[in-house]
Amino acid sequence: MARKVLLLLAISLLALVLMAAAFVFKESRSEAVAFMNEPRYELGEHRGADLCATCHEEVYAEWRAFSRHAVSTSAESVLDVMDRLEEHTILNFILGGRNMCYACHGPEAPNEGVNCETCHGVAPPGVPIMETHEKKYKPGRVRMQDAEFCATCHEIPGFVTPYGDWLQSEAAVQGLTCQGCHMGATDSGHAYHGFDSFVMNESLYEGDLSVDDIRFDFPTLDLTIENHISGHSVPAGGPTRILALELSFRDAEGNEVHRDMETFAKYHSLIPVLGFWPAKVIADTQLKSGEQRHLSFALPPELEGRIATVQLVLRFYEVHDEHEGNLEKAYHVSRPILEVEVHVPDRTLAASHLISERAAVPQTLR
Ligand code: HEC
Ligand code: HEC
Ligand code: HEC
Ligand code: HEC
Ligand code: HEC
Repeated sequence: MARKVLLLLAISLLALVLMAAAFVFKESRSEAVAFMNEPRYELGEHRGADLCATCHEEVYAEWRAFSRHAVSTSAESVLDVMDRLEEHTILNFILGGRNMCYACHGPEAPNEGVNCETCHGVAPPGVPIMETHEKKYKPGRVRMQDAEFCATCHEIPGFVTPYGDWLQSEAAVQGLTCQGCHMGATDSGHAYHGFDSFVMNESLYEGDLSVDDIRFDFPTLDLTIENHISGHSVPAGGPTRILALELSFRDAEGNEVHRDMETFAKYHSLIPVLGFWPAKVIADTQLKSGEQRHLSFALPPELEGRIATVQLVLRFYEVHDEHEGNLEKAYHVSRPILEVEVHVPDRTLAASHLISERAAVPQTLR
């Protein structure tokens, strides 16, 4: 099952998914194209983050070192999708080419992705920088404190919907915004940890996902996985994000005798003629905010009495259209979010021993 849906996903192309997404909620194709190409920020020449860094050293350092925002026009994965889109000349033309990407990923120049001026506004040359602060940056903060500000780029209704999720979430009821969680955890708040942070640095969010109530009663392993994030589903990102729970069943010598996997993501159906043009969401196995999901894994009968340990690993995969269902071909794989080892002393009954290797959690995340 997991393999089949992954294969379907395998031939999807992110940009087209985004476009199709827009078609779902826009009346016409031209309206959808216009929506996707609409820059989400003030236009104008940027003086670049180096200028801001002269006085905002700490903010700059965090943004540069940790935030995916800083590489959103230069990351290999992004450039790769841009290149692929360009191979489809006519389609690329209709969709607006790279400009569509720059509409959210930040301006082409200075090639710093979503930089300081993308969010805070352009610092026009010839205007003293502190005047720009008084006129633009200070008043601008009020607008930027709302979840809606993040949604300008992070929400594509019907498809990528952390904001839609959030509106209906416990966090929203409590007044805990995107910023409250994503900017509260670090000193300057500009690290914006998420899936990719697990790749770029140590993970921040311990306890956001848990695996509990593990019971092994041959031939079945039962468990409960829970998304404790009160703000949105996981994965929160686009269709290339997959959360996977991988299980490795081992014998007394430590040799793997069986593997199994469960994936959590949104899967799209594809229009057969075009092959890569997604039509609609066919399956949604994302873990909803606060959801507890019970899972069962069955082993082949011949393994009775042979299982000594079961190792469970939970991690994210960023996939692209050439992975052919093989998660090892992902662009990046996060370091484990959770690792659990279950010892089976008499090889049939449950005895759970939980190991979590993650760093301490800032309280602001709940
Ligand atoms: C010459 C030094 C300097 C430079 C260069 C500079 N800032 Fe500032 N910035 C400041 C000072 C001083 C403050 C006020 C700090 C305070 O009052 O807490 C500030 C505050 C801010 C604030 C908070 C707004 C407020 O007043 O509450 C933002 C946002 C900001 N800067 C963004 C930027 C951006 C974006 C850039 C680059 C385009 C930049 N700054 C460049 C000195 C600078
Ligand atoms: C993804 C959008 C985004 C980017 C990129 C971004 N900021 Fe911010 N920044 C915010 C938001 C949101 C706030 C919080 C506003 C508030 O709570 O008042 C903020 C707050 C600030 C503040 C005031 C609070 C503080 O920590 O002192 C400064 C200064 C600032 N940003 C500077 C920068 C600089 C410099 C850069 C580039 C290195 C940058 N920002 C990049 C969104 C962004
Ligand atoms: C209650 C806290 C909380 C709130 C509110 C919240 N988030 Fe998150 N978000 C998280 C945590 C924790 C993760 C990390 C999940 C993980 O990767 O294990 C995350 C992950 C993400 C990711 C990473 C991508 C992915 O696939 O997981 C994005 C993007 C994101 N959030 C955007 C948003 C936006 C936009 C909002 C507001 C509409 C928001 N978040 C509100 C806690 C929160
Ligand atoms: C101008 C558009 C824009 C705005 C505004 C914006 N983002 Fe982003 N954000 C992006 C893009 C594009 C990426 C993906 C960068 C990449 O991976 O190439 C991203 C990445 C992220 C990630 C990392 C996701 C991951 O999987 O690691 C988080 C978390 C995040 N944004 C949160 C926020 C929050 C919270 C706000 C509001 C304060 C916000 N963003 C505002 C465009 C934006
Ligand atoms: C409507 C805004 C928007 C548009 C338009 C857009 N993106 Fe994105 N993209 C995002 C956001 C926001 C994220 C962060 C996803 C997340 O983690 O939630 C992202 C993430 C990505 C990622 C995965 C993150 C990574 O670094 O691996 C790739 C690849 C990507 N975009 C490529 C593109 C390309 C190529 C285009 C143009 C054809 C494009 N995007 C157009 C908003 C947009």
